[in-house]
Amino acid sequence: MKTLTTAAGTPPAAISDPYRPAFHYTAERNWLNDPNGLVYLNGTYHLFYQHNPFGPDWGNMSWGHATSEDLLNWDEQPVAIPCDEHEAIFSGSAVFDEFNTSGFGTAANPPLVAIYTSAYTGASPLAGRQAQSLAYSLDEGLTWTKYHGNPVLDRASAEFRDPKVFWYDGGAGSYWVMVAVEAVQRQVVLYKSDDLKAWKHLSTFGPANATGGVWECPDLFELPVDGDPQDTRWVLIVNLNPGGIAGGSAGQYFLGTFDGVAFRSESTVTAGLQTDGSRMREYGWLDWGRDYYAAVSFSNMPDGRRVMIGWMNNWDYARETPTGDWRSTMSLPREVSLIRVDGKPALRQQAIDPFSGLGPAQLQLGPQALATGVMPLPAASEVARIDVEFRPGTADSVGLLLATADTERTVIRYDVAEGILRLDRRESGNVKFHDAFPSIETVAVPLQDGRLGLRVYLDRCSVEVFAQDGLATVTDLVFPSRAGTALAVFAQGEGAHLVALDVVG
Ligand code: FRU
Repeated sequence: MKTLTTAAGTPPAAISDPYRPAFHYTAERNWLNDPNGLVYLNGTYHLFYQHNPFGPDWGNMSWGHATSEDLLNWDEQPVAIPCDEHEAIFSGSAVFDEFNTSGFGTAANPPLVAIYTSAYTGASPLAGRQAQSLAYSLDEGLTWTKYHGNPVLDRASAEFRDPKVFWYDGGAGSYWVMVAVEAVQRQVVLYKSDDLKAWKHLSTFGPANATGGVWECPDLFELPVDGDPQDTRWVLIVNLNPGGIAGGSAGQYFLGTFDGVAFRSESTVTAGLQTDGSRMREYGWLDWGRDYYAAVSFSNMPDGRRVMIGWMNNWDYARETPTGDWRSTMSLPREVSLIRVDGKPALRQQAIDPFSGLGPAQLQLGPQALATGVMPLPAASEVARIDVEFRPGTADSVGLLLATADTERTVIRYDVAEGILRLDRRESGNVKFHDAFPSIETVAVPLQDGRLGLRVYLDRCSVEVFAQDGLATVTDLVFPSRAGTALAVFAQGEGAHLVALDVVG
């Protein structure tokens, strides 16, 4: 069996830190937040990220860097774009400028170009502003040079940030498109450019749907529905903080069309700035948990795949999560696709699976009736993939207990009459470090042919739940004690069946 290793290459058993994940990216040391500049080039995936090179708290924002050949095993690289006295390097994206439109490279050696937000410090003539800037690399991302003409796009705004750039090739022509936010106005602003340096305004989207916090880290991409290239939708990602579905930070998405100029949403439920939030559950959410934020996708992917990574944390308490001299982790990468459900396109997310090809399963159970009560499983782990399928029948609820010890448990419960899946971390271990941490997340999940399928990834300090093949996901941090490794299934009320259960790890 292949041994899972950390980004630093250490087998999990050898790690003294109880919360250091085995298969999620963390910086070896110090703080990280948003994924930035996700780009694939020549067999290597690049993950840049918001990073404080000098400590485990937010500050000195710079772009950290890690590389991987499989999206799962990451090697930390030197800091890519460091802050300086004039600017912090806030979130943004990276593109492979294959035809050297920017002129930063040559035809023979085209550049990688990073488009990031300059958050100007008091020492800068542009103090207090946020504007978009460029840096380029001619050695596949290892070293970066800031463009002397920075910033390339300045709206004299204090809250204009998080540019995501992609190459548009369609009815309106071929050019670079940037989506960024005017965060406080809850607007996504779209620009076009031929050379990444000169930008022209195209259109503005929003406010719409969830507006209970600032809009951050947008993304825009096209996906086929059910794999049909003739039937596509554009997906506009808008992260917002606070005002997320489970409280604090979260990512929402809109489905619609993009004609090279404007995005037109087909999934706007409420237009304008909303105050009462009563329709929150009708909006598109990337994740219904507390800890999936600033999610954006890779550019230049092979095979047209669309893979996203989120920061597995929440600004409500991110600064206080009880880890050591590192803080925060990335989510598992998720491949996103659109499938038709009840006649409408729906977003499906499936994790790049760290356990794929690993085996044998620690435990495999076949079909059986579940009596009311808790059935401890002869399996224990703090690092595992659990696949379970229930047929709840006439029972009131069914579910899983994870990371359990005497007084601790993380509960995944499906309440049949309501059709609601809940992830309850109120007794998951250390929940006292912040008042906002103990929580129960809820999402409506219809049974399919009377069945509920869950894929759950457990990795020491996180639980990621993919329900019904990824049609709904719930991601939460947990901080169990060392003893919290036991697993159980349960039913309340008679009539439930376990169709199958499989634990790897
Ligand atoms: C999102 C965010 C971005 C910003 C970055 C700063 O988490 O607030 O809007 O660019 O973090 O670290």
